[in-house]
Amino acid sequence: MQFGHFDDEAREYVITTPHTPYPWINYLGSEQFFSLISHQAGGYSFYRDARMRRLTRYRYNNIPADAGGRYFYVNDGGDVWTPSWLPVKADLDHFETRHGLGYTSITGERGGVRVETLYFVPLGENAEVQKVTVTNTSDAAKTLRLFSFAEFCLWNAQDDQTNYQRNLSIGEVEVELDSPHGAAIYHKTEYRERRDHFAVYGVNAPVVGFDTDRDSFVGAYNSLGEAAVPFAGVATGSVASGWYPIASHALEVTLEPGASREYVFVLGYVENPDEEKWADDAKQVVNKTRAHALLGRFATSEQVDAAFEALRAYWTELLSTYSVASGDEKLDRTVNIWNQYQCMVTFNMSRSASFFETGIGRGMGFRDSNQDLLGFVHLVPERARERIIDIASTQFPDGSAYHQYQPLTKRGNNDIGSGFNDDPLWLIAGVAGYLRETGDYTILDEPVPFDNEPGSEVSLFEHLTRSFDFTVDHRGPHGLPLIGRADWNDCLNLNCFSTTPGESFQTTENQAGGVAESVFIAAQFVLYGADYAEIAERRGLGDEAARARAAVEDMRTAILTHGWDGNWFLRAYDYYGEPIGTDAHPEGKIWIEPQGFAVMAGVGVGSGPDDVEAPAIKALNSAHELLGSDHGLVLQYPAYTSYQVNMGEVSTYPPGYKENGGIFCHNNPWVIIAETVVGRGERAFDLYKRITPAYREAQSEVHRLEPYVFAQMIAGKQAPRHGEAKNSWLTGTAAWTFVAASQFLLGVRPGWDGLVVDPQIGPDVPEFTVRRVARGATYEITVRNSGAAGSRARLVVDGQAIDGNEVPYAPAGTTVRVEATL
Ligand code: GLC
Ligand code: GLC
Repeated sequence: MQFGHFDDEAREYVITTPHTPYPWINYLGSEQFFSLISHQAGGYSFYRDARMRRLTRYRYNNIPADAGGRYFYVNDGGDVWTPSWLPVKADLDHFETRHGLGYTSITGERGGVRVETLYFVPLGENAEVQKVTVTNTSDAAKTLRLFSFAEFCLWNAQDDQTNYQRNLSIGEVEVELDSPHGAAIYHKTEYRERRDHFAVYGVNAPVVGFDTDRDSFVGAYNSLGEAAVPFAGVATGSVASGWYPIASHALEVTLEPGASREYVFVLGYVENPDEEKWADDAKQVVNKTRAHALLGRFATSEQVDAAFEALRAYWTELLSTYSVASGDEKLDRTVNIWNQYQCMVTFNMSRSASFFETGIGRGMGFRDSNQDLLGFVHLVPERARERIIDIASTQFPDGSAYHQYQPLTKRGNNDIGSGFNDDPLWLIAGVAGYLRETGDYTILDEPVPFDNEPGSEVSLFEHLTRSFDFTVDHRGPHGLPLIGRADWNDCLNLNCFSTTPGESFQTTENQAGGVAESVFIAAQFVLYGADYAEIAERRGLGDEAARARAAVEDMRTAILTHGWDGNWFLRAYDYYGEPIGTDAHPEGKIWIEPQGFAVMAGVGVGSGPDDVEAPAIKALNSAHELLGSDHGLVLQYPAYTSYQVNMGEVSTYPPGYKENGGIFCHNNPWVIIAETVVGRGERAFDLYKRITPAYREAQSEVHRLEPYVFAQMIAGKQAPRHGEAKNSWLTGTAAWTFVAASQFLLGVRPGWDGLVVDPQIGPDVPEFTVRRVARGATYEITVRNSGAAGSRARLVVDGQAIDGNEVPYAPAGTTVRVEATL
């Protein structure tokens, strides 16, 4: 069952009913000002930091769901309704939400009135623009009232939810009915003291009334769906003093039959330098010069339309770096539009603000950010460069790293600290991805501090050496890397032994003296250690490269000797040196991470798909057999049915959810890539289709979340709600599935000296073209694909057959034609 459909031409997902199983959201903004917006106009806005600079309020865990948003109410001769359906929930004759790239439009129609609102954040602006078009679709003239509504958050979103003894006395607003471009309401709570910023909500037309006090607008004990003012049809002119400041404009709209009228609302964030805060000597009236300038830039529909076109053009340009035409529309829309879009959103938000992350929780993850980078480096390489420097600056001199850092201060987060022993190697992954994409080796010479300590700067390359050596220096009795608090799997806490309810598994004091080792980190070391060696070689450090390669070979041997269970790779050794992920145990016999990552790294691959004795083939076959389901591969099997004190958080989840046997989508692409490494494109593509939302759209009633973006988790086969997704949008799945599809299934990836063309997608896609811009040159690649397992592409480049699968990088501005045949 579906709740809408894709419109690929417009690059939109069209939701045709308000009754989706969960709010299906979108993101507005790409620089400093961001909004979340659901298909029924729920969500909130913030400036840079979702916790510290929250403009509007949202209610988590509310009944009913999705409470808090920017709403327009219509009072049409006493009939009151909201075109976004919520909050009034009056039946609509027509409803449609279109989520596009950086914008959303919501249309509701009832009783001969249609209201369409386009929401977006213009490029370079700190504001959400809302263009409202009201149309009289009846055959009689109409005069109706339109009421806007936004509820302000008192800036710090966490304090806003907890500290009522203070907050209910500090709210302040100003109302400007004679604003130069219409009417505007200002939210200036705490501006009288230390804040230099305020919010403005304006409309480009005269109003017949306004409200800024929530209780006056809503009425005591009412819900937003019963708000008193729209039902009365008359604004009260309330001026908030403490309590709950809001902004509502009342407009009177008169329309002949068939006529339309457009309004522009702007919800903006404005900062004033300290010496320019006030308009008066008594320091009572906000200096609104900058706010007026903002409202003046969007005072007409033409200005809004031009800004909207600029946003569309921005996305067209961004997405032109990589596109495919395969004949499989689900694949094309995922690769060309939605997955790349999700990668950008993930880059912007990290794991802060979604409908599963409150924006008041964690900072940016060291490992998460490095992996996210793999998904957006081709889109905005200069921002990837900046991000790499920020991340590396939180590293410690011994190569270890803060697990998280705060985006506003860019400093490491002491609450969570360090000790996740996979973290350092992800920095090599991020930097290698950046170098292959851009060829910008100057980044390696950038001076980068440790723990942001001025004076501690060394070259970025030296940071990579410390990352590499951290693993070399922290190995256990089997020569495998010590795990520390956890590895990629945050919940595999082998040194924690927690028995206190509520204690954090990630931060609690670890028990010393154990020998817990991770086969996952070992595989990561083989993969990214090889990248490190390559980078060293290219810096002319032949001895260092040789040292690194030798260490990588030792690790490969350690995996094949001590990390192998007979039919698959072990997951780890616990504190006492006992294996985890072995057939000898009734639960947690086999885990996905090492199967995918070791084979990705080329461990035990043998001679190809027919080499059934090769460890890689055995491991992948076992993964399919034991971890497989219609909805993707579960994380481990069988899931743990009881708490294992020596394993930590992983065994706290009920079987089938999250890291305990859930389909943790982030690691499925590792197996997809691994399958392409051994030449089994058909299997790889089949697995891709199981987790990719566009292919799951027809079962949206099972999947339940947005069919246009990946979710972190789909409930696993031991869960009562198998197939149901949770935690959409902000997940490493975005970057990894894009890497898997674009670089391995379709097979076009930046190599060190050229663009590699190495498709492995099986027989379902017999022919396709990829357009890839790399280092300024354009590659037009045509693939003819037999789909036979194990076959590799032969390449003809501008008419000349070449050896191997790497097309040398061409000068910027040129176009290269590549024909690949398998
Ligand atoms: C979450 C975390 C990520 C971790 C994964 C597995 O996605 O953000 O850092 O690797 O869970 O535990
Ligand atoms: C918690 C979650 C886990 C997530 C981690 C991120 O441990 O249970 O799924 O990966 O936090 O820090």
